[in-house]
Amino acid sequence: MRINGTACDAVPRASQCLRGFLREQGWHGVKTGCDTGECGSCTVLVDGAAVNSCVFPAVRALSGDIVTIEGLSDVGGRGLQDAFLRAQAFQCGFCTPGVIMTAAGFGPAERADVDAAMKATLCRCTGYASIRDALDGRARWAPATSPVGADVPSADGPAIVTGAARFTLDIEVADVLHMKLVRSTVPHARVLGVDASRALSVPGVVAVFTHEDAPDVLYSSARHQKTSTDPADTRVLDRVVRHVGQRVAAVVATTAAIAEQACRLVDVSYEMLPAVLDVDAARRPGAPALHADKADDHGIADAGRNVAVDIRGDIGNVDAPLAASDHVVELTFDVPRAQHVHLEPHCTIGWLEGGRLVVRTSSQTPFLTRDALCRIFSLDRCDVRVIADRIGGAFGGKQEMLTEDVLALAVLQLGRPVQLEFTRAEEFSAATTRHAMRCTVTVAADSDADLTAMRLTGTMDTGAYGNHAGGVLYRGCREALNLYRCPNKSIRAQAVYTNTTPAGAFRGYGLAQFIFAVDCAIDELSRKLGVHPLEFRLRNAVAEHDQFTSLVAGPSDVTVASSALPDCVDLVRRALAEPSPPPPEGEQWCVGTGYAVSMLETAPPGRHRASVRITSEADRRFTLDVGTAEFGNGTSTVHRQIAAGELGCSIEDIVLRRSDTVLLEHDTGAFGSTGTVVAGMATLRAARKLVAAMAAAAPGAVLAVEESTEGSPRSVSFVVHGFRVAVNIATGQLEVLRNVQAVDAGTVINPMQCRGQVEGAVVQALGAAMTEYLWSDENGQMQPTTLGGYRVPAFGDLPPVEVCFATSHDPTGPLGAKSMGEAPLNPVAPALANAVRDATGVRVTALPLSADRLYEALNGRVDGAGPDPAIY
Ligand code: FES
Repeated sequence: MRINGTACDAVPRASQCLRGFLREQGWHGVKTGCDTGECGSCTVLVDGAAVNSCVFPAVRALSGDIVTIEGLSDVGGRGLQDAFLRAQAFQCGFCTPGVIMTAAGFGPAERADVDAAMKATLCRCTGYASIRDALDGRARWAPATSPVGADVPSADGPAIVTGAARFTLDIEVADVLHMKLVRSTVPHARVLGVDASRALSVPGVVAVFTHEDAPDVLYSSARHQKTSTDPADTRVLDRVVRHVGQRVAAVVATTAAIAEQACRLVDVSYEMLPAVLDVDAARRPGAPALHADKADDHGIADAGRNVAVDIRGDIGNVDAPLAASDHVVELTFDVPRAQHVHLEPHCTIGWLEGGRLVVRTSSQTPFLTRDALCRIFSLDRCDVRVIADRIGGAFGGKQEMLTEDVLALAVLQLGRPVQLEFTRAEEFSAATTRHAMRCTVTVAADSDADLTAMRLTGTMDTGAYGNHAGGVLYRGCREALNLYRCPNKSIRAQAVYTNTTPAGAFRGYGLAQFIFAVDCAIDELSRKLGVHPLEFRLRNAVAEHDQFTSLVAGPSDVTVASSALPDCVDLVRRALAEPSPPPPEGEQWCVGTGYAVSMLETAPPGRHRASVRITSEADRRFTLDVGTAEFGNGTSTVHRQIAAGELGCSIEDIVLRRSDTVLLEHDTGAFGSTGTVVAGMATLRAARKLVAAMAAAAPGAVLAVEESTEGSPRSVSFVVHGFRVAVNIATGQLEVLRNVQAVDAGTVINPMQCRGQVEGAVVQALGAAMTEYLWSDENGQMQPTTLGGYRVPAFGDLPPVEVCFATSHDPTGPLGAKSMGEAPLNPVAPALANAVRDATGVRVTALPLSADRLYEALNGRVDGAGPDPAIY
């Protein structure tokens, strides 16, 4: 076998896949995204043909010529790598080697139909627009004259396109052991015993850990600044399993294959307990209580009734205006679970270094993870180091501690290096999901089209544990109503435990679900009033300098410090006034236009601490240490831009180090769209402090300054989305003809990066709006369990989004910036449902808007659009 032009004498193990073999030989540009040939992250060339190396037996390549991304330049692939660099055709960059290698294998047939040829190579971050630009040879950036406001490329770009970028497991640790997890096959049971004798007899098995080996400490897998935000209801390994897929035991062995084989030999005996698989069953009188064993001080609203979180809030009184108004809409909406599908699975590697536990992990919150490990294992902060280098996508799924705790248990007990990497099937069945939601929205207006009452009654399924339940519920229902000035509002909402896989943080943090409900109801009300949907929203939305009256908590630190919402509305209307591509031919196709508006607070409530240190080196270069993490959000570049702008140096003079607990004392982490607004403000202040210090110091002095910010006061960002769609009323087929989003991101520090965030978020949202969903089967097993079954949008599935930037300057953000990490996702589903309503007269109230669902809804349709739509 020759690999990248060099003879390789190593012999693969029996049944070893080519991907595993190549990674063992140190070719880390070959990524692990799935094990079924469905994501393309592991693509390499074998004798010139692109193959998915995860399903390609290594022995079949024994006499082959193999090229990985690391060797592509030597076989003429430099042009392709340069094209991806010029187009910055990546966000996190985890998929990039596979995408480039797929393109490198193109022959004439593939070049003639690129959409089909790229179908099995997924990217979850970019929405594929920048990848198409790269393949078409279009550049997205040019050298900039000043750092702020320019399309500055990522400093990690050259390493990403050549496969040199090091993601979590792309390092060599000598004699590392591998962990695999024995998971529950039943939804609710007491573990009576775990017999590991057969597993331990397998050669290569080093240890099997059960609840008897783990500390009896309760915590939440959710990572927040305040641990009291989430119920303390989780253990490293518990005596009770509350969902299919829960960890029961951990097997450590010399190879992952041996550990996996041994897992099948661990015998678990259970005392079966009655299970509740949906929120209705969980709230029924007499239903089994999942956490009845927890004391009152564990942060659970009502453990006896399976209520994790209970929210009630009122402004004014909704009853009178609802009774008095002639213009009332009441609709009930359902949003199912969804999966993040970050292409890098949850993974962690750990070892001991001078007695200190070192954990390198795929986490958005390394400092909070360190603190949690300290608490669980009774360690001091100086005894634990957590590193999160470049992360392969996150979307909230890595604001969770799903691997680090059980891995630390093994490293501490064995004193040897261990790594744990979820399979794609585990991501679907055991990692967290977006919360499923059911919610009834009632809205009323007077004859002047002013809103008079808004009532929201909602339930979320938090699954077996309450991680993020409070934050998601609170943010989702409160911020969805906050968008509108209305004198009377009411919220009644609960998050309910069920014996299903736990839900958790997901991009949008609850808002996507609740905005779907509220915006569709608002759209219906505007139709009832005969007012243009955008004019109705604009008339009733908050405006610049408005204060918010908090519905469910004490004084708020949020104001509308700036608003370009009217500009956003105007940009979308003007864009959609341009000619659209025609619908497919045939009289069965109906065309419609739909809009939605959303608002997002620029940082999470409750103080989000970001820390930064800048050191001036002797040669006018600077080292910038940031606590916040990089997972494709682009903040590493934005921070260098902010610092360079203040320090008056070039971007290249700033060397950035990130998300390592030895660099700084504390940092809350990268979530809640805080990377630019909160952490960027810390960088701005530190840079200004350093400028002042340098002015007072001797020339050439080495100086270091630190700054932290707490993300308060906060403002809001706005997003408006518009679709023109065609719906085939005979089949339910839905075609997106135009797809436009206008964003109020304040001062846009890096337009190329911000555009990439919007493009990726819109396609991720369209996936959840049209094809993606998870459900729990009759045994409590989450379905589907494969990428193919889940149907993530692929290259060529959807038209690109047209991104428009409105102009504003927010006084609370660094240099006037607002956050834009999550916001673009939220209005997509309601805008699409509103467009379908406009096209067909049918109001569909459940997601996804699949062809099957639309077909069923349209079959019940009696006539064309009328004043009272059919509701499905
Ligand atoms: Fe493609 Fe992140 S850039 S998955």
